[in-house]
Amino acid sequence: MIETLLNPEEVVLEKEDGNHVVYTFQNKTFRLDKHKARQRLEAKRVINGPRSAELNVLPLKYHEAYRIYKQMKANHWEPDVIDMTKDCTLWNSDKLSAKERWIIEMGVGYFSSAEGIVGDSVLHVIEDNLTAAELKHASLRQIAEESIHMDSLLHIIGSLNIDLDEVTAKFQDIPSIRRKNEYITRHMPELKMGIDLTKTENKQKFAKALFGITQVMEGTQFYALFAMILSLHRQNKMTGIGQMFQYTLRDESNHIALGRYILQELINENPDIWTEAFRQELVDFMAEGVALEKEFVRDCLPEDIVGMSQKDFLEYVDYNADRRLTSLGLPALSTVKNNPFIWLDEVMFLKKEKNFFETRVTEYQTSGSVKNTNEDDLI
Ligand SMILES: [Fe+2]
Ligand SMILES: [Fe+2]
Repeated sequence: MIETLLNPEEVVLEKEDGNHVVYTFQNKTFRLDKHKARQRLEAKRVINGPRSAELNVLPLKYHEAYRIYKQMKANHWEPDVIDMTKDCTLWNSDKLSAKERWIIEMGVGYFSSAEGIVGDSVLHVIEDNLTAAELKHASLRQIAEESIHMDSLLHIIGSLNIDLDEVTAKFQDIPSIRRKNEYITRHMPELKMGIDLTKTENKQKFAKALFGITQVMEGTQFYALFAMILSLHRQNKMTGIGQMFQYTLRDESNHIALGRYILQELINENPDIWTEAFRQELVDFMAEGVALEKEFVRDCLPEDIVGMSQKDFLEYVDYNADRRLTSLGLPALSTVKNNPFIWLDEVMFLKKEKNFFETRVTEYQTSGSVKNTNEDDLI
């Protein structure tokens, strides 16, 4: 069983006291006029609600977003202090095969652009259109985490002394990466220009972008390469990089949960979005993302190597895609039912007494933990 470490009730306590609503955040108390608080609460919307420059989350409507925000903060980590000594020694030796080296290069090459695409899209497409403060708050935290992920790639590039321009040029030319990036950003320019979100078709475009970034890209297209790099880590190879990808994976599980939550709340408030045709559009969009991802997996791992079977990674793509679809009440695309990488659970369900990595994980846990409340979000 997964323990719940930060649940909404623990994050914020809310009670009425005469003419006031009293909120308790850990050891802080806030008193709000009950009548005004109720008015503000009723006016709050995911999109098309009142905007306020204050970014004051009270009165709190979207509790789960605030819980995820707190969870993200509790999982904070810093790339620069991850020790890369062992990675450098191995990288500069002949003990890493050309195929293993290629996986690391693909990891650096793909994520260097992908993290930037996510950060930019969450900023200009998602956060900008949200109107409820607690949703904006959580999205802004996600953007900060995407910057940390980009920073971790710089730490890898700098530590291994990889030629930055060579990496950029090389990976821009790989068709499977180019196609993945073009596919996910296809609708973004229009959304960045600002569209009228009172129209159903535009609300659907926004919902599709949210689904595309958080469920297809972060929730499906990131995972096979994460698993490959963590497979190397499991074999005690490139452990500094593995550790950073472990923290990144943990962050991504929160981003997926946040995206799904916002999408569900958006649909609840705007049922006109959720037509049969639109649901099918999302399933088709995922199917296209899966096909592109499988092409990418074949590029990363053209044939099986020690501890890694291409078939398992292809199945993992299906497994993750179906998990994202069914969690939104959409039909699965494949017949894959089981996670081919059960051992990856250990990476996420890390406990002090059962530390998969001999590293700093526990030191980076602050008031929260590495765990999430929803099993579906985990790896
Ligand atoms: Fe990220
Ligand atoms: Fe992310």
